[in-house]
Amino acid sequence: MPETTVLDAARRAAPNESSAPRAFVKSFGCQMNVYDSQRMADLAAGEGYREAAGPEDADLIVLNTCHIRERASEKIYSELGKLRELKEERSRAGRRTTLVVAGCLAQAEGGEILRRQPAVDVVVGPQSYHRLPELLREAEARPGVVDTDFPAEDKFSRLPASAPEAVARRGVAAFVTVQEGCDKFCSFCVVPYTRGAESSRPVSAILSEIEHLARSGVREIMLIGQNVNAYHGADRQGRPVGLAPLIAAAAAVPGILRLRYATSHPNDMDDELIAAHGRLEALTPYLHLPVQSGSDRVLASMNRRHRVADYINVVDRVRAVRPDIALSSDFIVGYPGETDAEFQATLDLVREVGFASSYAFKYSARPGTPAAEMAGQVDEPVKAERLGALQALLEEQRQAFNRACVGRRLAVLFEKPGRHEGQIIGRSPYMQAVFAEGPASRIGEIAEVEIVGLSANSLRGRIVSPTS
Ligand code: SAH
Ligand code: SF4
Ligand code: F3S
Repeated sequence: MPETTVLDAARRAAPNESSAPRAFVKSFGCQMNVYDSQRMADLAAGEGYREAAGPEDADLIVLNTCHIRERASEKIYSELGKLRELKEERSRAGRRTTLVVAGCLAQAEGGEILRRQPAVDVVVGPQSYHRLPELLREAEARPGVVDTDFPAEDKFSRLPASAPEAVARRGVAAFVTVQEGCDKFCSFCVVPYTRGAESSRPVSAILSEIEHLARSGVREIMLIGQNVNAYHGADRQGRPVGLAPLIAAAAAVPGILRLRYATSHPNDMDDELIAAHGRLEALTPYLHLPVQSGSDRVLASMNRRHRVADYINVVDRVRAVRPDIALSSDFIVGYPGETDAEFQATLDLVREVGFASSYAFKYSARPGTPAAEMAGQVDEPVKAERLGALQALLEEQRQAFNRACVGRRLAVLFEKPGRHEGQIIGRSPYMQAVFAEGPASRIGEIAEVEIVGLSANSLRGRIVSPTS
């Protein structure tokens, strides 16, 4: 290892802010990917990097990638092509740029990324990014470092706490990863391979992180995991605790006004968690519960291990304790072998349940997953047609849900200034964006807002409650 490294130089330079090196971390994936990006930014800050506004003024560029669908991966390679040019340009100006590819594509493709794009200095997977500082040092001596291990050590305990200023910059709503990985092996999905086996963080570590966030101004926490309701972290006595008691403990942290969680698997919606929706004031009446398909045959082939009726049963039980709950879901159209009648069954399920918002995707064959090898791959035009039909129905339901909110009073947590002077924007309990006239001092507060109108993607409201 060289005596003096860029990082050492960074540390020395840190007190003089203008000459400090800058890091740019860009997220391409899900909420966990966003959380990981923030934690990598924290690691970079610990090494003396300040946040860069964009890649052009960054000495360290981290792309945190996703592998869930083919398009997600292709996007990264085209982005890397552009960054190679930027790196060369900066190099001609005598500035060094370190290029890191992190995340699920890094895990899936490892050294292949270096072969396809030699300008990359470091490839690091989602379970080893806490080693980023060491990897940067290694890459300085010898670019082209790959770390896609699933180390035994606890990544989270090795991450530095986010600086209060960074937390404040990120806003009043924050993600906290509580569970990671997946053992379910749905036949279409790469996550069990890219994120590894399911594991839960201990309760005390999660609560300390939430307390720290709350002290730095966070008011809403979203507990996240690939299968967050499979959470079974240890309490102080080492006994496993489910998601419901964790939510209750998080709700008791001073300053925390609102909690939500994602993403849930229908099979892990236990009685205690369902009851929590009726019991816990701070838990938002919003549930993202992916179903993927409305056909039992397709669900079985997907290895989802539940039937349509089981899903509806979960929905009924949640609605029984929380009648106003807003539901959202994920759907895949054009899964191998999906017939037109099976697709129609998905539309029927959507009509039966009624969703406030949802995501629909065309099936994308992922290398190494069982579904990619199945007979009956569906043609692209058929997938496109089904996606269009499903999205139209989901959009109709979303708009109907929003229209039904007009005239109601909703508790809005204000998050940031709006586009116009004197306007602030927040979220309803159903996660809709709500605009209102109001002072910036109300950001971070929950106010009662009368919904007076609609825009394409948001609600317009009038604050009716006095400042708390
Ligand atoms: N753990 C969550 C979802 C993780 S991935 C769950 O079990 O529901 C997020 C969404 O991406 C999935 O719900 C699914 O709808 C979609 N998805 C995953 N793999 C896909 C693939 N190969 N093609 C298309 N969509 C996919
Ligand atoms: Fe993927 Fe299924 Fe695991 Fe969700 S439950 S992450 S869809 S394998
Ligand atoms: Fe993508 Fe990995 Fe998340 S594949 S969806 S970034 S878990």
